[in-house]
Amino acid sequence: MAIPATDMDQSTRSAPPTRQGTDAPPPCSFQEKVRSRYHAFWYHLGERVAWSRGIYRERPAQELRDLSGVQYERVTSLQRRFRVRFEQRANQMTALRQYDYLDLLDQGWSTLRLPRLAGGTVQDIGSSNFWYAPVLHTFFRPTALIGVEVEGHRMYINGYSRHDYAKGYIQDLPNTEFHIQDYRHYRSPANIITAWYPFVTPAPVLAWRLPLSLFAPHLLFSQVVANLQRQGLFLMVNQGRNEAAIAASWCSKVGMIRYGSCELRSRLRPRLPPPVLSCWMRAPA
Ligand SMILES: C[S@@+](CC[C@H](N)C(=O)[O-])C[C@H]1O[C@@H](n2cnc3c(N)ncnc32)[C@H](O)[C@@H]1O
Repeated sequence: MAIPATDMDQSTRSAPPTRQGTDAPPPCSFQEKVRSRYHAFWYHLGERVAWSRGIYRERPAQELRDLSGVQYERVTSLQRRFRVRFEQRANQMTALRQYDYLDLLDQGWSTLRLPRLAGGTVQDIGSSNFWYAPVLHTFFRPTALIGVEVEGHRMYINGYSRHDYAKGYIQDLPNTEFHIQDYRHYRSPANIITAWYPFVTPAPVLAWRLPLSLFAPHLLFSQVVANLQRQGLFLMVNQGRNEAAIAASWCSKVGMIRYGSCELRSRLRPRLPPPVLSCWMRAPA
């Protein structure tokens, strides 16, 4: 049985801006503290048990069904240009989400007129179960692809963990790894670092059922700068302009300069607010 990657509470994903420029614990209500403690209990238990039911492989859809005209057109164009058929390895829902991320990358790249890249090490921060590893592999054609996820042992209701899923998603991708680690302590050089919807305010941390102790954007972005090679690119996607503005201020604070940013139109899985993609480089020493 395929359980969708329902990693998040049904509560909101975005949050109001908070104090910036510090990694001191965000001020929070008694209720939030209790929720954070509760999530901390399960998070640490998961880490200790490190449960695995074995590698999880989705049943491939083979063909995508019931697409709207716009979806069909866009998917066909991506398939032709990138020579991919995600549905041959993934179920319909995952494959559509994968085309959607590929579409966003493609849009961002052409809007910002970034050069097409190939080779080098690509790291992804906060990869969940790394369902989009095939997208990063297709788009960047990296020499090495590494997904870093702090809560890789989270278990789904079918008894498989994120790690079990990740192993399935990366099984056929050469030179691809999934590391269960806190990126704040992940020291390894990279040419490209990606972060899809990183936490830049505390509310989504709780919504994703994680303890607030994991909310430390200053340390997280500082590690990006430490790992990014000269001429390397940090690519971030945020949920809407407000969140992107908060994320941008963290990036500037840790010494990155913006190469460009743009709002994207999600044609395959429309959502509000529209995602914002931004590209960053290390400021010259
Ligand atoms: C909003 S979710 C986005 C998931 C995924 N990037 C996607 O687009 O589906 C943020 C993810 O970052 C992970 N995360 C948060 N802090 C982290 C850290 N310090 N190191 C690694 N992963 C982290 C969370 O566990 C969660 O899976």
